[in-house]
Parts: sequence; C-alpha cells; structure tokens
Amino acid sequence: MDFDISNNIRTLSGTSRLAGVMGWPVAHSKSPRLQGYWLAKHGIDGSYMPLPVAPENFASAVKSLRDLGFAGVNVTIPHKQAVFDVCDELSVRAQRIGAVNTVTFAPDGKILGDNTDGFGFIENLRQSTPEIDFTSSPAMILGAGGACRAIIVSLLDENCPEIRLLNRTKSRAQALADDVNDPRIQVIDWNQAHHCLDDAALLVNTTSLGMIGQPPLEIDLAGLAAQAIVTDIVYAPLKTGLLAQAEAQGNRIVDGLGMLLHQARPGFHRWFGVDPAVTSELRDFVLASAQE
Ligand code: ATR
Repeated sequence: MDFDISNNIRTLSGTSRLAGVMGWPVAHSKSPRLQGYWLAKHGIDGSYMPLPVAPENFASAVKSLRDLGFAGVNVTIPHKQAVFDVCDELSVRAQRIGAVNTVTFAPDGKILGDNTDGFGFIENLRQSTPEIDFTSSPAMILGAGGACRAIIVSLLDENCPEIRLLNRTKSRAQALADDVNDPRIQVIDWNQAHHCLDDAALLVNTTSLGMIGQPPLEIDLAGLAAQAIVTDIVYAPLKTGLLAQAEAQGNRIVDGLGMLLHQARPGFHRWFGVDPAVTSELRDFVLASAQE
C-alpha cells in the first residue's frame, strides 16, 4: 500500500505558539493529549509538550522556557508549590488556593501564576447540571489536600453559604479551614458524615478513596436529599463506588474527568487565543488514551 507521507507530516513554523506540562514524572499526564486535541480542532500553529523536569532543575527550567519564547506551561506534581516562588505575579485565586497549576509568560518577561483547578471544578458542575445553585444550601466536602483547597475556595467565591469539611485526619481539615479563614467553613468529624447529609445540596469527594488501587470510600448516603448532586474528583474509575451508590438512590452524579478537562481551558485560551469547548468527543478522545 502506498504511504502518502504528506498526510502524516505536521510541521511547526517559526512563529508557532509553544506550551507544555512540567512534572516529575510526567508521562502519565493526560494534558498533552487534551491540549493536542484542541490544537488540531482549531488548526492552531502550535505544540503542547510533556516536559519531565526534576525538582532541582525546576526554577531554571521555567526561566529557560520563557527565554525560549514559550507561551506558558502547566505545572503538576511535585512542582505545584515550588512554582509559587518562581512567579513574579500571582492571580488572586492562586494566592488564595496557595498553589499554581498554570503559568503564562508575559511579553515583558514576567512569569504569571494562576490556579485553574477551582474554575475546572465549578465549570464541570455547571456544564453537567446547568440548574445547579451554589448559593442556597450547604456543601459537604470530604478530604483536606491540595485539590480540596481549590474546591473550597471556588465554592466560597460562588457564595456557597456553608461548607462542611470532613477529613480522616481532622487536624488537617482544621489547618486548612484556619488558613482559608472563612467563617462559612465548618470542620466536622469524619465519622459524623451521615449526620450532616440531609440539607446538603452538594457532596464532593476530594480524597483518594475509590480510586483504582485505593480502598473504597465507605459512606452511608441514605440521609442525602433526593435533589443533592454528588461529585468525585477521582476519575479512574469514571464511575466510582460513591457515584454508583448515589446514582442507585436517584441522585444526580457528576464524574471527575470534566474537572480535568475544564481546568485546562484558561491556559489554552491564554496561550493559543481560543477558549476551547469540552465536548463528549473530547472526553472519549482523552479516555481512549487509557486503552492505548
Ligand atoms: P491532594 O493530592 O489533593 O493534595 P493528598 O494530600 O494526597 O491529596 O490527600 C489525600 C486525601 O485522601 C486526604 O484528605 C487523606 O486524608 P488524611 O489527611 O487523613 O491523610 C484522604 N485519604 C487517603 N486515604 C484515606 C483513607 N484510607 N481513609 C480516609 N481518608 C483517606
């Protein structure tokens, strides 16, 4: 069979926009596939690369990318805190969340840090359940890690009236609440979850429980109001035990893949000039990477 090489060559021009994701390791990251899809969809002259960078090289690598003319980078584990010190300016939400996942290089060379995890969380819920109202009822959040903090800050910014925060290690939840310092956050004992379900409009799992290879999240959802929405930031599996249990009792569920997809939008928009859409075709494309 003839091989038409012209169909398979993708070249970059001298003015290509360049971006990537820095992590250590980074091979598991879905971001190159996700951003690559949008680049192809919009016919953009650009590239988004996986960039494995060891912690000791992190600061110099960021500055080198800037000097090479990159538009920006995403930053993932273990660099989300270190990047804080490299940035010249931080968005208000990055300061409040205490971590950066999206870096943009300004024309004057300044390194600008932002955190789009909370944006991704809210946008995912809005797209999946357009009728959602964050302002009228309490939200219940399980966990106390980095993703949890981004979610709490974003819910407070959406005028959520009360956040019930439960973590196995209560002192971590208390430290997070003290740090965010908003009277709407109530720290509750981990084993009291079933007592504070009945008037919650939203239940969020931000722990690693329920992820492939981790123990299940054991929670009795019987007291949950019928109209409450349940979401999980775990997306492997896509339908966690928590989501299956909630669905079985008639609650609306939102899986965690959408948060990953939506959090990528602000970076793509800034670097490549288009606010891209999260579609079912994109979801399928990103999920297919797990099977390759
Ligand atoms: P992140 O990546 O969001 O920063 P992390 O720091 O790894 O997250 O935290 C994982 C979360 O899962 C924590 O809230 C952790 O609870 P602890 O603070 O008590 O460690 C929670 N978690 C992990 N294993 C758990 C288990 N077996 N039971 C209950 N919670 C668990």
